[in-house]
Amino acid sequence: MGEDHNMPSFMPLSILSLSLYLLTFNHAYVLLAPAPSPVSISSPPSAYQPYDSYLINCGSSTETRLDDGRIFKSDTQAHSYLSTNQDVKASMDYIPSDAFSNSIPSSTEGLYKTARVFLHRSTYTFYISKPGKHWVRLYFYPLHHPHYDLETAVFTVHTEKFVLLHDFSVRGYSKVVFKEYLVNAIELFSLVFEPKKGSFAFVNAIEIAAVPDEFISDSASSVPQGETVNGLSNYALEVSYRLNMGGPILTPKYDTLSRTWMPDTPYNVFPQGTEAVRGSYIKYQPDKWITWLIAPYLVYETAQRMKTEAHAQTVEPKFNLTWVVNVDAGFSYLIRMHFCDIVSKSLNDLYFNVYINSLMGFSSLDLSAETGGLATAYYIDIVLNASAITNGSIVVQVGPASTGGLPNAILNGLEIMKINNVDDSLDGLYAVDGSYEGKFMKLKVLAISGIFMAFLAMFFLGMVCVRWKKRPPDWQKRNSFSSWLLPIQGSSRKNSLSSSRKSSIFGSRKSKSGHSSYYSIQGLGRFFTLNELRTATHNFDEKMVIGVGGFGNVFLGALEDGTKVAIKRGHQGSEQGINEFQTEIEMLSKLRHRHLVSLIGFCDEESEMILVYEYMANGPLRDHLYGSNDKLTLSWKQRLDICIGAARGLHYLHTGAAIGIIHRDVKTTNILLDDNFVAKVSDFGLSKAARMEQGYVSTAVKGSFGYLDPEYFRRQQLTDKSDVYSFGVVLFEVLSARAVICPRLPRDQISLAEWAMQWHRKGMIEKIVDPQIAGSISEGSLKKFAETAEKCLAEYGVDRPSMGEVLWYLEYSLQLQEATIASSSSSSSNIDDLLEEKLSKNVVSIANILSDDDSDSTVGSQLHFPNVGNMQGR
Ligand SMILES: *[C@@H]1O[C@H](CO)[C@@H](O)[C@H](O)[C@H]1NC(C)=O
Ligand SMILES: *[C@@H]1O[C@H](CO)[C@@H](O)[C@H](O)[C@H]1NC(C)=O
Ligand SMILES: *[C@@H]1O[C@H](CO)[C@@H](O)[C@H](O)[C@H]1NC(C)=O
Repeated sequence: MGEDHNMPSFMPLSILSLSLYLLTFNHAYVLLAPAPSPVSISSPPSAYQPYDSYLINCGSSTETRLDDGRIFKSDTQAHSYLSTNQDVKASMDYIPSDAFSNSIPSSTEGLYKTARVFLHRSTYTFYISKPGKHWVRLYFYPLHHPHYDLETAVFTVHTEKFVLLHDFSVRGYSKVVFKEYLVNAIELFSLVFEPKKGSFAFVNAIEIAAVPDEFISDSASSVPQGETVNGLSNYALEVSYRLNMGGPILTPKYDTLSRTWMPDTPYNVFPQGTEAVRGSYIKYQPDKWITWLIAPYLVYETAQRMKTEAHAQTVEPKFNLTWVVNVDAGFSYLIRMHFCDIVSKSLNDLYFNVYINSLMGFSSLDLSAETGGLATAYYIDIVLNASAITNGSIVVQVGPASTGGLPNAILNGLEIMKINNVDDSLDGLYAVDGSYEGKFMKLKVLAISGIFMAFLAMFFLGMVCVRWKKRPPDWQKRNSFSSWLLPIQGSSRKNSLSSSRKSSIFGSRKSKSGHSSYYSIQGLGRFFTLNELRTATHNFDEKMVIGVGGFGNVFLGALEDGTKVAIKRGHQGSEQGINEFQTEIEMLSKLRHRHLVSLIGFCDEESEMILVYEYMANGPLRDHLYGSNDKLTLSWKQRLDICIGAARGLHYLHTGAAIGIIHRDVKTTNILLDDNFVAKVSDFGLSKAARMEQGYVSTAVKGSFGYLDPEYFRRQQLTDKSDVYSFGVVLFEVLSARAVICPRLPRDQISLAEWAMQWHRKGMIEKIVDPQIAGSISEGSLKKFAETAEKCLAEYGVDRPSMGEVLWYLEYSLQLQEATIASSSSSSSNIDDLLEEKLSKNVVSIANILSDDDSDSTVGSQLHFPNVGNMQGR
């Protein structure tokens, strides 16, 4: 299907600041730390320049420059990234020196002197030009404030996907708190501060910076399983420890990635047997991606080794070098150990074993064999599974191997990073949208469900109402199948059931007969067995994948009768709950329209959550406009037909169903084309029911970059006119066949909407027309089309046409085009005018245009929600 899950949901930012974003990421933010080691004689490496980097000293009125060269923006300079209702600054001139525990370099003191206090949910949004792994560093210190005691603040910090801190409080730390994460940032990356009810949030400084690609490898060996774990790059990590064995503290000044490396002594449990050593002439292995970015020279130049006296006494030392660190149990950890043989006199002298929590992590590690030389940097990655952490500590040991070599062992550096759990959290068991309340209600429902179906029906209805009333502040994962239809969805998705519990839930309702009949009574889409879908997709063969999303993969499948279908398979263990799944199927199967992608059926056997949609052979509209070379250029008439189709689909959503539905993510990748190039709107993952008294929904801003309604940004009120705005951008995109955002173009051309409007204002819209079709568009058709797009992009929603009107204008533009073609042989030079006159006389009513193919729109009229009649069926 056409969804583009990389396009982020995102938080408010003003459209004016768009250009600011693009400018700042291009220039101002690239900063470098002078990194070369003072000891090394190798030529100092050039400093790493992060592709994207946002450094903010929150609450500060001036820029802050650290001794490592990093410059943190003042609040004013960083204003455009923040969306908040109400916040307060706190500041303090000095910080007691004992506030710096020995794990945080005091060179960062300047960052802790001011803070920003958030009384409500607040979001920083950053444009990431190269999505991928980024550092997220957060600095906290509870400054004194006359009204807010920052020590009492309790809050959650999360990104779109990952919970970084849950119900976090600095209390108990008593010092400055520094948190460092490695997360995958998407194009619009947001960092949300969410106060616990009745409390508030604060932060002293924020740092987001790109990490070089080679930094995190995708696989590592695992303990205790011993297999290779893949897919590591998809996880979020929190740096728990980063130690420089046998060496001093290394502040960000000495590490071009601004990392801090602490001495290992506090964690070394057998110092008597340990000896710090120092080497020089360290070599890297750039061909194996082991460069100074993995760890600076100073890390590899020092090590702890087994004390020489110790093995003078006994022929073979009977101990290990041992470090113990405390960690959060319940999480798996990525352990990175840095080695560099600075102790041996010749090759193949040093063999040793690596143990993690007494389990063999690496047996007879021979650095010479791995590196082909002495004093050569090397590292290993080991994933320690949560199951092997029994008492909240990780014990890392190196000790002599029994096989050959001189009995010794070394370690140069150690990094211990927490891996997110199944709830995509790095702190606790709650997902991004997690809450106790949701879980509690859910459990209640489930407990009853097995026993009293009737009770369930009533209870469910009650729940719907309750949740409808107190919908959550709207934080949904946008890759849900169709959160749009589901007022209940927002909060019920909060449940983060452990996967084991989830499978038992599914198990308890897996009475197949009851199941099928239930759905057939409801007259829902077809129920597929898992086997049918396995056959259809060659057992979910990777080769059949036609789309990938956060929720799971989309496979192309063929049913027994040869019908091609698109099969969307939710990840197992994804927290999409049962009620949502059922309701979704129920709702989706009712919304049928020629210009909406329709649901054919579903499968929920064996705790699978699979939806089967009609297959759209020609894929997303965007692929036919630009960016793929193998497609034929769409003619102007085809483009008009497609726009008209999509407009019909949207018009139906807005008005056809009994509740108005706002799509909220209208873009050319969500307009799919079937084998006859009929356009259908898809991906309702963000959509919203708009059956509100006011005709709008107050909600956090989500959508796709480049298509977003500026008024919706400002007011955070969603109306159907926001879809109209996005559709206007689509129209310009269709006309000009260029991307809506081209960051590399000169500033005034970056945003398609702005650029097109400039030319339209100058009356030279032909300047932006796709050269491939420019010659074939009639003047009248172009004029009407551009006017329509321009109206859609009006600053204020009230000035924009409705989708029905847009449809009418587009029909008109098509007529003008066809009339021109028909008349191109005739002599009438003034056909446009004639036609215009004729059309306006006839007053082709919008209703007529709309009704011509909305044959199944009656289905929509039954679509009251919450629908008491339907609920009784349960
Ligand atoms: C080193 O530690 C491992 C695991 O804890 C243990 O099995 C081994 O016997 C130790 N080696 C020595 C020489 O004590
Ligand atoms: C830990 O082990 C369990 C069970 O063996 C496995 O399902 C899980 O994926 C492992 N975790 C990681 C991070 O590898
Ligand atoms: C528990 O942790 C301590 C260090 O905190 C360690 O000495 C001990 O061996 C551990 N016990 C087990 C069973 O892992």
